[in-house]
Amino acid sequence: MQTLYLSAQDKATAQIAAEFIKNGELVALPTETVYGLGANGLDPTAVDKIFAAKGRPNDNPLILHICDAAQMDGLCHHIPDAAYNLAAAFWPGPLTMVLPAKEIVPKRTTGGLSTVAVRCPDSDITRAIIRLCGVPIAAPSANISGKPSTTTARHVRDDHDGRIPCIVDGGACRVGVESTILDLTEQPPRLLRPGGITLEELQSVVGEVTVDKAVTQALSHDEIAKAPGMKYRHYAPACPVVIVSGQRQRAAAWIREHWQPGDRVLCFEEELPLYETCAPLSYGREEDPATLSAGLFDALRQLDDPSIGKVYARCPEDTGMGMAVRNRLSKAAAFQIIDPEVTP
Ligand code: TXA
Ligand code: MG
Repeated sequence: MQTLYLSAQDKATAQIAAEFIKNGELVALPTETVYGLGANGLDPTAVDKIFAAKGRPNDNPLILHICDAAQMDGLCHHIPDAAYNLAAAFWPGPLTMVLPAKEIVPKRTTGGLSTVAVRCPDSDITRAIIRLCGVPIAAPSANISGKPSTTTARHVRDDHDGRIPCIVDGGACRVGVESTILDLTEQPPRLLRPGGITLEELQSVVGEVTVDKAVTQALSHDEIAKAPGMKYRHYAPACPVVIVSGQRQRAAAWIREHWQPGDRVLCFEEELPLYETCAPLSYGREEDPATLSAGLFDALRQLDDPSIGKVYARCPEDTGMGMAVRNRLSKAAAFQIIDPEVTP
């Protein structure tokens, strides 16, 4: 199959992409978080193609992308006031809400669940496409399952060129990590995945928020994940990743001592001089966590190289956007975290 590349700048793009979606085909779409692999979310046959292209486990439900908050009413019922307040505060933007699904939403899209995840992305071209095709677009991150997410059209091409009919290029994603997922079927609402809207921002609108255990810890095999996607190994380059925590100089001394030829260091820009002999790669500035989220997946994809032995990674504090970055890195590292204060 020949993949058609469209530019978000081009006037005809929205119409052409919407036709693919209406015809039950896949289109890779830009959003402010990561690129998605989209299909008509109300058509189980179209949704099947997403699972096949990504190699995604069947029980892992998809997010429905909508073009405004009003579209939520057609897909969900028992919508609490909090959901409308959150939509008013953060949509279009990187927030996904889990709500009870109406009958119209196929079980293929929800992975068999009675709830559905909805979000209104902050991308003009993608909202225009949703409006034109007249249906919600189901879209997971466009990466092959398990791999780091796609934050440029180039990343999507690397994973899917010749395997999907259309890729819309909207430039590099501004946020760089996926949307925040909040389950509003419980009170207080439960944070299932930290993302572009911070915990502090959610609390400012809804008050108390429960943070799901899967955000910060590995689940054991018999535990049921509230967001089924959170139980799978994720975001991971081909080689093992280990997070080295703690104070800058102390961590650098530990890493330099353990580093072997072929290993790499994933660090903050401010730390590059400390790792001159250890093949460092910076993913952003520690003092500005938004640069870390924007750069994380591109860095993890650069490190997705079987010739690398091990990656020692530095991780920001757990506040603000740092929470989403820490969550993704922890999952890439399968929650392997070394504290030089306790590990010799
Ligand atoms: O930023 C994003 O959210 C991106 C862009 C493309 O919008 N999409 C994305 O989709 O990250 P995906 O499929 O990679 O991650 C969706 C997560 C999965 O962990 C899935 O298990 C969870 O959302 N999810 C979807 N529907 C759910 C539901 N009804 N209940 C609980 N979790 C759900
Ligand atoms: Mg994903």
